[in-house]
Amino acid sequence: MPPMAALVRALLVVAALLALPPGSRSGDAGNLHPVVLVPGYASNQLEAMLTAAYEPSAPACAVSAAAEQGWFQLWPNHTAMHDASQVPCFADQMSVVYDAGADDYRNTDGVATRVPFFGSPRALIGWDPLVRQLEAMGYREGATLFAAPYDFRYAVAPPGHPSAVGDRYFRDLGRLIRRATRLNQGRPPVVVAHSFGCALTYQFLLARPLPWRRRYVRHVVLLGSALGGFAAAGMDFGLPNVARPTMVRLARSEQSALWRLPTPLVFGDRPLAVAGTATYTARNVSAFLEAIGFAEAVRPYVTRVLPMWEELPAPMVPVTSVIGIGVRTPETYVFGADGLRGEPAVVYGDGDGDINLVSLVAVEEWSQVEGQDLKVLRLPGVHHTGYITVDFAVKSVIAEIAEAGRTIESTGNLAFEQKCTDH
Ligand SMILES: *[C@@H]1O[C@H](CO)[C@@H](O)[C@H](O)[C@H]1NC(C)=O
Ligand SMILES: *[C@@H]1O[C@H](CO)[C@@H](O)[C@H](O)[C@H]1NC(C)=O
Repeated sequence: MPPMAALVRALLVVAALLALPPGSRSGDAGNLHPVVLVPGYASNQLEAMLTAAYEPSAPACAVSAAAEQGWFQLWPNHTAMHDASQVPCFADQMSVVYDAGADDYRNTDGVATRVPFFGSPRALIGWDPLVRQLEAMGYREGATLFAAPYDFRYAVAPPGHPSAVGDRYFRDLGRLIRRATRLNQGRPPVVVAHSFGCALTYQFLLARPLPWRRRYVRHVVLLGSALGGFAAAGMDFGLPNVARPTMVRLARSEQSALWRLPTPLVFGDRPLAVAGTATYTARNVSAFLEAIGFAEAVRPYVTRVLPMWEELPAPMVPVTSVIGIGVRTPETYVFGADGLRGEPAVVYGDGDGDINLVSLVAVEEWSQVEGQDLKVLRLPGVHHTGYITVDFAVKSVIAEIAEAGRTIESTGNLAFEQKCTDH
């Protein structure tokens, strides 16, 4: 083809692709870039099975243990939420244990767990509006649409620290991404992550060699990412509702809990909790953990969590960051003179209701990084759960996914166009 004709053809293709509204591509399923969804915290099911080693902590649990044959749904567990006698059983079975000798987290003795429907969007909780829109665009489960649910009680750890559950998840996620690519003639997927899923996806990418990322990840769409943690996370540990010790114990036991704490890199000297004359910032989380009676978390926090968040290198694959702004978000908890107890006054700031603005915008420093493609979309008034549920937010997210997929088709053409005009 003569260069001029090729250029005209390329431009026409680009123009045609840009002109198409997302919905009209549904007939074009053969050319879709697959999508892999990575949900947020507690946004997929967990199943459990009690084994002979299970020791009921309360008589009510013995009953349920005897009644349970095989796998049952541990999360979400509506029985436990409504039947007070089941709360301790649920909390026990859901808790994880940090084994200081092994330097890793594991399930409570006698409780086996698994994540059902790995690979399928059916595994997800709360994603229906977004998934339905993707299906309307032509995405099909198992062919072009995938999901990577996980055991959200766990996380991963830096090199040198074992993290059996998280490491297995990263292997499974890597396999799923490669499978999605293979099933789509080598077109790598757009990975769409929400909330805690963003932090996992980010660490997953960093743990893969750059050529792997470039080969297998076309684009990452982050929804409400908190790569600097968030202020309300500390309150998950049972403050201010210290009245429910079982749930506090459960919340504190999780490996993922320490991961969500505000990081020094992003939060710096911002006050997170004030108690009398003591001010706690992200720089003295260890002192905070000790002050709330959670000293056993200090070692795993310092050795396993902090090192992963000391810097935020750009992932060097194209990223779109969608954030909600202008929603009242807890920023500082102000306690009375007698320390971190009682009901604190909450000082609010900007964010998406859960994640503070400073953490939502942490990825924006990547715009300074040469070779890092970054687009930021701000959605005023959209709450942390709204990205995947609120109509106008879902539409915006869908448009970003469509564009991320489209970039691939047009990249070659645009590059070609550039070359020709350079001549
Ligand atoms: C909920 O949890 C209790 C105790 O952990 C268990 O007996 C029950 O089978 C679980 N499942 C559902 C669906 O409620
Ligand atoms: C926590 O660190 C801040 C500096 O970020 C400091 O001003 C404050 O006094 C420290 N608080 C405690 C309780 O150590």
